[in-house]
Amino acid sequence: MLAFIGGSGLNQLHGAELIEEKQVVTPYGEPSSTLSMMALQGQTVVFLARHGQPHSIAPHAINYRANIAALELVGVTDIIAVNAVGGISEGFGAGVLCVPDNLIDYSYGREQSFFDGQLKPLDHIDFTEPYSAPLRQSILDASADVGKHSPLIIKDHGCHAITQGPRLETSAEIRRCRQDGCDIVGMTGMPEAALARELGINYACLALVVNPAAGVSDALITMDEIHRVLDEGMETIVSIMQAVVSARS
Ligand code: HPA
Repeated sequence: MLAFIGGSGLNQLHGAELIEEKQVVTPYGEPSSTLSMMALQGQTVVFLARHGQPHSIAPHAINYRANIAALELVGVTDIIAVNAVGGISEGFGAGVLCVPDNLIDYSYGREQSFFDGQLKPLDHIDFTEPYSAPLRQSILDASADVGKHSPLIIKDHGCHAITQGPRLETSAEIRRCRQDGCDIVGMTGMPEAALARELGINYACLALVVNPAAGVSDALITMDEIHRVLDEGMETIVSIMQAVVSARS
């Protein structure tokens, strides 16, 4: 079963019909919100609002373990995570979509593993390629379909920097990210991706660039501008989600 984790700007799955809200409790606590079991294109999919419903949980305060454990408990095998991000590299301007193929984790102090030697024995996952290649391809194929009807720009690769937040970065921090090879920057991509891998769940990210990262443009980053881009981009993202689900049937 496929799940979508919605980030900022995507608090519900438009166009899908609610079947049931599932309140799931895990050994790690409660997920950010109830799991919405939804009917989309004749299939059941799960939607989870990463920042809670309403949007109130900061990136560093999200119980990522509970979120991923809850999705596993209801039988999720594949997760598409939606993330609003800042753009670092040329060509990653506001409104551009990206399916990253790699990441660098700059976050800290988050519960980042199920393998804590308590509930699960200590273990080490391979994380050379942090995102599932087939799931990434399914997003890219769906985007190509959606792009036939409405214009969109999608990058088929990119390195995703994950910072701690909730503040935005300094221009020096973004300079470092760029030197490290990062193309986009967000606050919630990790430990989500690693936790999914630990449980054997396929995971890919669909990111929407909502602002130039700090220092990339001369303009100050305003929440008004971010929200405007989010609102516009989320319509396209929902169309891509629908196309991903159609292709799975
Ligand atoms: N930095 C980190 N996270 C973000 C940004 C950013 O510029 N924009 C949206 N999420």
